[in-house]
Amino acid sequence: MNSDVNPAPLRQFSILVLHGPNLNLLGQREPEIYGAMTLEKVDQNIQQLAEAQNARVTSIQSNHEGILVDAIQAAFQVHDGLLINPAAYTHTSVALRDAISAIAIPTVEVHLSNIHKREAFRHHSYIAPVAIGQISGFGHRSYLLGLQALIDWLRDRDQQASVS
Ligand code: DQA
Repeated sequence: MNSDVNPAPLRQFSILVLHGPNLNLLGQREPEIYGAMTLEKVDQNIQQLAEAQNARVTSIQSNHEGILVDAIQAAFQVHDGLLINPAAYTHTSVALRDAISAIAIPTVEVHLSNIHKREAFRHHSYIAPVAIGQISGFGHRSYLLGLQALIDWLRDRDQQASVS
């Protein structure tokens, strides 16, 4: 059968969205850097895009490294992908990096601000080497760009698996 004429229905992916420390303060926290949108609204927009893309998302925000590690571990064989803004833990956390690496979950790292344009201590990410890629600097849209990139990557992987 010609697959272009009769495409297989798109698989529904389940995505875990993790927001790191201080992102609960979005909207009031340094709006000149992080924008005026609240985390609740960011999550609503993520949800909307996910629905349009036939994906399911679960969003969690925590100020605690261990809770984020637990959430990543619990994603094993539950979620297909991870969209994460590790916030300050980007620059400090071997534990988050090891958790992602341990469960080998396809991961996209996002940042509202362009971390490479800011203080030198923000230029290094412990997460980037275990992520598919990083999106940084597009404000609240970084999340949507990251989610779309993650879903496209998962679809490409499925398609490659079905032809090989
Ligand atoms: C951030 C950038 C980090 O350097 C910072 O610690 C944050 C937010 C961002 O989204 O731009 O808390 O991850």
